[in-house]
Amino acid sequence: MAEPKTAELMEKIVSLCKRRGLIFQSSEIYGGLNGFWDYGPLGAELKRNLKDRWWRSMTQWRDDVVGLEASIIMHPRIWEASGHTSTFSDLMVDCLLTKKRFRADQVEPQNGIAYFYSGATDDGAGKESKDAFSVLVARGKPPESARKAAKQFYQQRGLENPNLAGERSEPVENTTRYNPENGSLLTEPRPFNLMLKTYVGPVESEDNKSYLRPETAQAIFAQFKNVLEVSRQKVPFGIAQIGKAFRNEINPRNFTFRSREFEQMELEFFIRPDEAIEAICGQVAKPNGSGHPGEPQANWGWQIWHQYWVEERLRFYESIGLPRNSLVEYWQKKEELAHYAKATVDVLYKFPFSKRDEKGELIGEELEGIAARSDFDLSQHQRFSGKPMTVFDEELKAAWPKLSSEKQAELRECYAKARSDYLIRMGEPQEKAQKLAEADAEALSKGYYVPHVIEPSAGVDRLALAVICNAYSEDQAPDEKGKMETRVVMRFHPRIAPLKVAVFPLLKNKPELVKKAQEVRDLLRPLLTVFYDEAGAIGRRYRRQDEAGTPFGVTIDFDTLGEQGPELKDTVTLRERDSMKQERVKISDLPARLLEKVR
Ligand code: GAP
Repeated sequence: MAEPKTAELMEKIVSLCKRRGLIFQSSEIYGGLNGFWDYGPLGAELKRNLKDRWWRSMTQWRDDVVGLEASIIMHPRIWEASGHTSTFSDLMVDCLLTKKRFRADQVEPQNGIAYFYSGATDDGAGKESKDAFSVLVARGKPPESARKAAKQFYQQRGLENPNLAGERSEPVENTTRYNPENGSLLTEPRPFNLMLKTYVGPVESEDNKSYLRPETAQAIFAQFKNVLEVSRQKVPFGIAQIGKAFRNEINPRNFTFRSREFEQMELEFFIRPDEAIEAICGQVAKPNGSGHPGEPQANWGWQIWHQYWVEERLRFYESIGLPRNSLVEYWQKKEELAHYAKATVDVLYKFPFSKRDEKGELIGEELEGIAARSDFDLSQHQRFSGKPMTVFDEELKAAWPKLSSEKQAELRECYAKARSDYLIRMGEPQEKAQKLAEADAEALSKGYYVPHVIEPSAGVDRLALAVICNAYSEDQAPDEKGKMETRVVMRFHPRIAPLKVAVFPLLKNKPELVKKAQEVRDLLRPLLTVFYDEAGAIGRRYRRQDEAGTPFGVTIDFDTLGEQGPELKDTVTLRERDSMKQERVKISDLPARLLEKVR
């Protein structure tokens, strides 16, 4: 059966999320709060599974990454150093009539006739407004709607019966200056800082102002030295963190996709600068074609490390059931890159609400960004805190004197140039920047440098939404009487499914069946998330679990009790959600059979 498409599909998914307890609107009983969401019983399990899987694959299954769990509110200087105080903003525009706020880049271009007014008078009251206003009207439509909107505008400025002044009109094309909902002129774009403010302590003063973190990454940079000291790691190594982040998004939208409170899973993977690698290894290995470059090597430069992390992350998504063809690897163009980034790949997922290209194919929306951020972040914290963020690299110190003097000069020059470019970009005067950069190059020759970083940064909520969209499916299955009906199945990969196995006694009024089923439940419960259900016809119980996305169902029947002969005693029916196939399995084999599928 064909899958339902886009808006209709999204409506079905949102409705299922509420019906089955995956996602609820926050504060629903008070009308909700835009941009905030709660996860119900199944959603909480799903999110936990996604985070656990990420945590294990990024830290516990590797030797070179350790974890961190930092506070949400940190010293406000952190956000000055990171650039969030001055630059973490979106351009916004307000409707001059309704005051509704839009993100400037999200206003769709429109065509039509623009009506301009230079002001208005209210002769009876002797009042006047010289504020200019304008309204966009679709071609072929009479000017009355423009005049009505203009009168409203001047009434809001205290004119009871406005006489419009200086009306003129002209056709306009591809304009983003008007509210698409009512044609009213919008304000000029203004930057709007996305950080949510709060006050620490009992006094609400400027001095006590702080922010809910807009990303988890900065805590990793701020704690870099502490972690390095205690973890016995050396560069290259990473620090991973999962946690809440907050952004006062202008337009939260697409269900949970753009929220004001969300969770991130971020890794900062620290690497040597290329100059240090060249000094130690003689050359810097660069990517040799596309695909996974294999096991990390000492001579990898930033490009190959970046490629490695892009491929690792794609493999992760595939390992939890997102097919490769539902993902897009988008390389940001030069003009899209942040000033400190050498390269950024966005991993996009083809959400049903994604925009489409000219061929009608879904373009995809960002799940994760993997950025090569140079040494920008640690350098900024070094400058703002006055604490050194350099590491000492014994191998570099030992390698440097063995280089030819030409090579030493070349590497010093290259390193000093990158450092002075950064310092000048950050506003240091040229002369000072050059002096500092030369000191940095001198330090490099003695084995010291500020590590560079590759940052894979993913959103938990976006991933949860992607796996929900990917899992949603409808097919045909027989009902109790064998008549075919539409079945909604959440085809979650068993590794991340909220519930792994449902256990059913065939009949609830047969104590022997119930007792045996509870024994099976108790056998499996320490190993897997088990749902026990004895209410209703068995077919209906299967359907409920299909909709919850439970990959396996175990039914205890009279054969299990040995009533049809000893050969079937202590066996159960194991039903597989996707194929609906059933097979007889010994109870003692169940743990191994199930664990093999969910690990
Ligand atoms: N430290 C880098 C950083 O924060 P980002 O691209 O702004 O980069 C990383 O965010 C990820 O966090 C995004 O790819 C997305 O998955 C998630 N994310 C960002 N803003 C979000 C929002 N408003 N709602 C839900 N998830 C968001």
